[in-house]
Amino acid sequence: MYNQTVMTKFLRPENAGALRGANAVGKAGNSSCGDVIKLYLLVDEEGVVEEAKFKTFGCPAAIACSDVACDLVRGLKIDEALDVSSKEIFDELGGLDDSRVYCSVLAEDAIKLAVENYYKKKGKEN
Ligand code: FES
Repeated sequence: MYNQTVMTKFLRPENAGALRGANAVGKAGNSSCGDVIKLYLLVDEEGVVEEAKFKTFGCPAAIACSDVACDLVRGLKIDEALDVSSKEIFDELGGLDDSRVYCSVLAEDAIKLAVENYYKKKGKEN
């Protein structure tokens, strides 16, 4: 069901764990499977995502997608992070089984919620 890239990211994710000093958090859940992705971002004063980490309760694909989402947003301006799509996450993993495509959508949602949370904390409307 999972290709080698997905399995590697699931078994040895590089971005797993909470992020000390995170100033944006996005929590996305899928009520049908119960999976939850929590994405932590540390955004610097220039609005650049300096660091990204995740804590995910979910299937191997959800964990692999979370790990890739962190890699994709790191180094981007916070508003550019909104452009990271589930398709990009899917492609980065070399594809996902049809039954797991939603896991990449959940990771995209977590990014969007983290950006929203950042602006909310900054007192801005996005
Ligand atoms: Fe629920 Fe992967 S099966 S997000």
